[in-house]
Amino acid sequence: MIEIYSDAKELAAAAAEYFVAQCPETVALSGGSTPRSMFQILAEQFRDEVAWSNIQFFWSDERHVPPDHPESNYRMANEALLSHVPVKTDNVHRIRGENPDAAAVASEYEQTIIDVTKQTLPRLDLIFLGLGTDGHTASIFPGSEVLHETKRLVAAPFVEKFKSYRITMTLPLLNNGAAIVFLVSGAEKAEIVRAVLQGENKYPAQAVIPTQGELIWMLDKDAASKLT
Ligand code: 6PG
Repeated sequence: MIEIYSDAKELAAAAAEYFVAQCPETVALSGGSTPRSMFQILAEQFRDEVAWSNIQFFWSDERHVPPDHPESNYRMANEALLSHVPVKTDNVHRIRGENPDAAAVASEYEQTIIDVTKQTLPRLDLIFLGLGTDGHTASIFPGSEVLHETKRLVAAPFVEKFKSYRITMTLPLLNNGAAIVFLVSGAEKAEIVRAVLQGENKYPAQAVIPTQGELIWMLDKDAASKLT
């Protein structure tokens, strides 16, 4: 399903409302900059409508940095949302990017998700994803070996483009989600949105096909401007 909103603010408001309506017990937050305004709206407008302490928070991916690093997806979510609402700290499962051994971080995170959900192939209630202009999502980049991962739930690919490791949920875990929401905003994403939604199958984001869940693309008008 594709939903198009007039601008980034409307998109963020709609995504926040969707979150509240879903009232997920388990949610994977996406990184990058797009989700920030959704987080801010959740904190400012929906603080009292959500049973925050019931929610288990995960991340769909993380940079290989400490939690206070400017690039940390955890840091952004904490600043925009988690530090403003009564979440249960034990239920906030950040990816421990400060550990220099990225592979160990990935396997530890995989175990955490399994332990918390009590499922060997967890079915997260709600997974947010972003879309890079190269068609990556989470930290699954074009040409990455993670694209072919069929067993592990979390991996730690070295990303050439950034000359650094990332920790990312893999397709088996992402595709088992009950609701997967891509949030994409801005004219700079219009071409990749067209290519992913209407072009040939060659981008990582196109491999996100829920086995039994819902897939929603929430776009603002600029990001949707090249869709026919
Ligand atoms: C990350 C993200 C990544 C992001 C896209 C879009 O860690 O960077 O998870 O997949 O969602 O790159 O990023 P923007 O929202 O900043 O455009």
